[in-house]
Amino acid sequence: FSAVEVIAAKRDCRTLSRAQIDWVVDAYTRGEVADEQMAALAMAILLNGMEPGEIAHWTQAMIDSGEVLDFGDVGRPLVDKHSTGGVGDKITLPLAPLVAACGAAVPQLSGRGLGHTGGTLDKLEAVPGWRASLTTDEITAQLREVGAVVCAATPTLAPADKRLYALRDVTGTVESVPLIASSIMSKKLAEGTGGLVLDVKVGSGAFMKTLPRAGELADAMTAIGAAHGLPTTALLTDMSRPLGRCVGNALEVAESVEVLRGGGPADLVSLTVALATEMLALAGLPDADPAAVLASGAAYDVWERMIAAQGGDPSAPLPVATHVETVVAERSGIFAGADALAVGTAAWKLGAGRARKEDPVQAGAGVRLLAGPGDEVRAGAPLAELHTDDADRLPAARRLLAGAALLITADPPPERDLVLDV
Ligand code: URA
Repeated sequence: FSAVEVIAAKRDCRTLSRAQIDWVVDAYTRGEVADEQMAALAMAILLNGMEPGEIAHWTQAMIDSGEVLDFGDVGRPLVDKHSTGGVGDKITLPLAPLVAACGAAVPQLSGRGLGHTGGTLDKLEAVPGWRASLTTDEITAQLREVGAVVCAATPTLAPADKRLYALRDVTGTVESVPLIASSIMSKKLAEGTGGLVLDVKVGSGAFMKTLPRAGELADAMTAIGAAHGLPTTALLTDMSRPLGRCVGNALEVAESVEVLRGGGPADLVSLTVALATEMLALAGLPDADPAAVLASGAAYDVWERMIAAQGGDPSAPLPVATHVETVVAERSGIFAGADALAVGTAAWKLGAGRARKEDPVQAGAGVRLLAGPGDEVRAGAPLAELHTDDADRLPAARRLLAGAALLITADPPPERDLVLDV
């Protein structure tokens, strides 16, 4: 094969053969196919799509570019979840310990934030001492002893995806359903989980802004799971509003701890329990009662052990930002909720996220909402807090949260369904 031949085939809307796919992904991993050639192929895939069979082969080629992890027998069923990313989506933090407390093992290999959506590793690094990088042996031991691990993907896991994702990020080729689905699923399949729950986000703060687009992504991912024999369930969940009231690394850790202690915002608790229920069904533990386990404090005990096992001090004070500014309600009425994209972008600008992969993040930066949807607010009363270590960042965040971003209406907002489809 030649790279030009494969690019031209997809440019002309032909189905790539298994041999073409295996060759191009392997040659790209070895550096024989150049970045500009892979970028052209990625754009042809984005524009012309792929058949389900092509997507399954493409996913397999990405898995075969690296190592498939095997955690051996950790004495419990393995199950994982993946979220396509949202604002205030700290669900992994309470969910992994909760599912472990119910009897399953959760090998949650996670990523960092880019743009307005946060990354689980950035959040946990707000905990003093906590370490993201573990060896496969350390992950296995922790799964056996604690039941839950949240850590960075090992360097050998789907290396073709690492290279291709970075290339797509700078060539306008991220938003392709076949490429997103194969990227996510190759990493989850290489991780060796026994079951997978996908939380596909829909709305202003998500990749997929509409229900049909999110449904297409969910269908593509569950089809890959089925083709590879991995039991996979996808939930489509609302991301038009931030999850919970806190957005930003340490702020989200604190809110997750509230949930683990039996409190926390209702939307966060209900989505955590809904995802746990699906995970436990896939793990063969359908009789577990995650709501009761959460209320009992057992999930908090697992959290403490999970953090301590990775060098963190679960009782240490979390970092706080040096500057906190209040945003007040512009008028009196009912708080109808905050726009996810506006709040996510404000938190990012305040220092919670990064513009380039190598940028540092501020642990204490972010946005805390002081009211929930349906709460009555008075003009001039505090509605949100902006947290940052760098006061120069405050005006941009303030502008993002002006007007309809923090919506105040005369009538109560309609009830919001968090889980839109399964
Ligand atoms: N997350 C991934 O891991 N890959 C994508 O392509 C998009 C989001």
